[in-house]
Amino acid sequence: MTQTRPGGTGPLAGHTVSRVGFGAMQLERLHDDRAAAIALLRRAVELGVDHVDTAQFYDNGFVNSVLGEALRPEDDVLVVSKVGAESNPGGAVPLRAAQRPEQLRASVEDNLASLGLDRIPVVNLRRLDVGPGVRAEGDQVVDLDDQLAVMTALRDEGKIGAIGLSAVTLDGLRHALPAGIACVQNSYSLVARDNEDMVRLCAAEGIAWVPFFPLGGAFPGMPKVADEPAVIDAAKALDATPAQVGLAWLLHHSPNVHLIPGTASIDHLEANIAAGSLVLDEATLASLDAVPTRAQEIPLG
Ligand SMILES: NC(=O)c1ccc[n+]([C@@H]2O[C@H](COP(=O)([O-])OP(=O)(O)OC[C@H]3O[C@@H](n4cnc5c(N)ncnc54)[C@H](OP(=O)(O)O)[C@@H]3O)[C@@H](O)[C@H]2O)c1
Repeated sequence: MTQTRPGGTGPLAGHTVSRVGFGAMQLERLHDDRAAAIALLRRAVELGVDHVDTAQFYDNGFVNSVLGEALRPEDDVLVVSKVGAESNPGGAVPLRAAQRPEQLRASVEDNLASLGLDRIPVVNLRRLDVGPGVRAEGDQVVDLDDQLAVMTALRDEGKIGAIGLSAVTLDGLRHALPAGIACVQNSYSLVARDNEDMVRLCAAEGIAWVPFFPLGGAFPGMPKVADEPAVIDAAKALDATPAQVGLAWLLHHSPNVHLIPGTASIDHLEANIAAGSLVLDEATLASLDAVPTRAQEIPLG
């Protein structure tokens, strides 16, 4: 099923966007089939997606360059990128920390060039405060205020439209609020709900909550939403897929949720967009709310 605004609409950084967006990281897997990556993005736009999450360090600029080629100004897509890491070609882990203020600035410039934009609508400062993922060591342990100073300067210069935070603690978010935070991106899903206090704080502050790994991510070893028995039961009852139930639960959970599920498959893209229309009744929501939180730390580096 298609609809004009998947999941309805909600505010994100002063823009009204469809609540079902698209996370572009999985397009890395289409490195050898650029036409397929472009076709997938075009299909997303055709189905009403107007919020796409990306990063320069997704396959060393490949994903950004695909966005730059596939998205047209008239699509009016809110592109959200992130800084705080860089590609690590040949490394055991494909990315490494790039937290220093001059690295944040350089990364914004790289994003502008590869996306072909004069201004990136939203840029998340990807901290390394909470997992899963790489942690900061040595000169990569940088004070949040020093990073917010360069992010606000970049906003004042017009190179970025708004500032978000990612992989941040509750205290870190509270501390950053005076800088004007548009959105927060931490790992969170039906099976990984350590961030409930932050979801509530974001809702109270008018901040969009844009969880990454909304399905449990693609990395093996992380708990997957679609494996959860209560999710499978609900999916059977609703004639939906478990992934769709997990995404619909997120949309029902809090009005400030925006989804960025990642996929390299057009079929899955269409299913994720259709999840925006799935209605969960009170009994189903209660059974899903009762699913326990699973440990999600994995050795990404
Ligand atoms: N801020 C950060 O630090 C950070 C970190 C990680 C990710 N992100 C962003 O968050 C986005 C989402 O995270 P993610 O892509 O890693 O994880 P995810 O959305 O939780 O899961 C992606 C995995 O689920 C599969 N999938 C997607 N839709 C499906 C469906 N309808 N049915 C069955 N399987 C499905 C995908 O495989 P197929 O390709 O086969 O569909 C892929 O293996 C990323 O794309 C990225 O933009 C941000």
